[in-house]
Amino acid sequence: MPRELPVRALADGHQSESVSTRWRRALAGSGRDRRRRDRRLGVGLVGLGYWGPNLLRGLLEQPSVDLMYICDLDEERLGAFSHRHPGAAPTTRYDDLLEDPELDAIVIATPVFTHFELASTALSAGKHTFVEKPLAPSAAKAGELIDLARERDLRLMCGQTFLYSPPVREVKRLIDTDELGDIFFISSSRVNLGLHQRDISVIWDLGPHDFSILLHWLEEVPESIMATGRDSIVPGIHDVAFMTLRFPSGIVANVELSWLAPSKLRRTAIVGSNKMVVYEDGSGEPVRVFDRGVEYRDPETFGEYQLSYRSGEIRSPCVAATEPLVTELAEFVRLIEMHELSRHLELARQVVLLAETAEASLLSGGAPVPCVGDSELVSS
Ligand SMILES: NC(=O)c1ccc[n+]([C@@H]2O[C@H](COP(=O)([O-])OP(=O)(O)OC[C@H]3O[C@@H](n4cnc5c(N)ncnc54)[C@H](O)[C@@H]3O)[C@@H](O)[C@H]2O)c1
Repeated sequence: MPRELPVRALADGHQSESVSTRWRRALAGSGRDRRRRDRRLGVGLVGLGYWGPNLLRGLLEQPSVDLMYICDLDEERLGAFSHRHPGAAPTTRYDDLLEDPELDAIVIATPVFTHFELASTALSAGKHTFVEKPLAPSAAKAGELIDLARERDLRLMCGQTFLYSPPVREVKRLIDTDELGDIFFISSSRVNLGLHQRDISVIWDLGPHDFSILLHWLEEVPESIMATGRDSIVPGIHDVAFMTLRFPSGIVANVELSWLAPSKLRRTAIVGSNKMVVYEDGSGEPVRVFDRGVEYRDPETFGEYQLSYRSGEIRSPCVAATEPLVTELAEFVRLIEMHELSRHLELARQVVLLAETAEASLLSGGAPVPCVGDSELVSS
């Protein structure tokens, strides 16, 4: 499990209220009155590191969102973004967001080990909460967040961007319509050079993408995971992992993750009894369907068997060009406005369970570790 830190203590260490207090005073009576008039949703964004600015851009594209706060412990980053977005109050104090009764929702893009504390305090303060993947540093804590949101009747959502990716959805359609036939196995590579994380392995960093995609496509939780890898550069932080996930249906998935690769690759091959698919994120043809396979006829006499290979056309279905991040944030806004529960919340907990299981296998030297999950995934 990733290391956890007392987040409030960190925030309290930066008592530079001056910037945000001045800003909030200046904004009082402008942004807020404007929002009250047009009933937009008041949102605060926490974390302006690598990923936060993408969420910032996505939030600004939501017509019904009023970005009220940007928050980061790093004053330099905060200063840089506050100049570009003067309508949002910059603050290093997370409590500013929690204490503002006008703020409806908080979007969290901070390191994994802070997710639980930031999200649980947001929910306890009555704020709808969006947390970047993975939802929490353990499946038990992910469950606690889900329960807390339910108790408080608040919307909780986890940022699992690939579930909103048009190519991922197209592959899901191909699986659900049985175009691929029975799925035999899946093989995936998610590798590039960097960004090395300081406190989590590549399994916790990149793994949630593949876990969420596999759970979404297959709608079943693996029975066990075997993972091997290596901390090639920073002692104790695994930067490469090779995982094998075995599902109750017999499907086997092999996933390679690495921050140490000569070039960026996000490629998944799905091999079915009828057809095969290659999904390559970022490619001009992100989904290619191969009408290829092999047929096996039972031997009629001892020692004789027959295989026939089929090699038909290759099709590249047209997929929408919508940006997953913008669609995902629009879904968060819609859930709040329509008072609906996120369809992917249980899946978010399962993602954490798989990360935990894979990490346990990695640390045990590659032994198969059972995924002690119980619930079935809610179909999406
Ligand atoms: N959905 C995706 O495709 C995707 C991609 C990359 C990262 N992520 C997720 O985004 C999250 C952030 O990752 P990152 O790479 O941007 O990390 P990062 O380390 O680059 O940035 C984190 C930022 O949060 C700030 N921060 C830390 N603790 C804080 C606190 N208590 N209050 C306010 N600010 C605080 C830091 O100062 C830093 O600027 C992670 O959960 C990561 O898994 C998601």
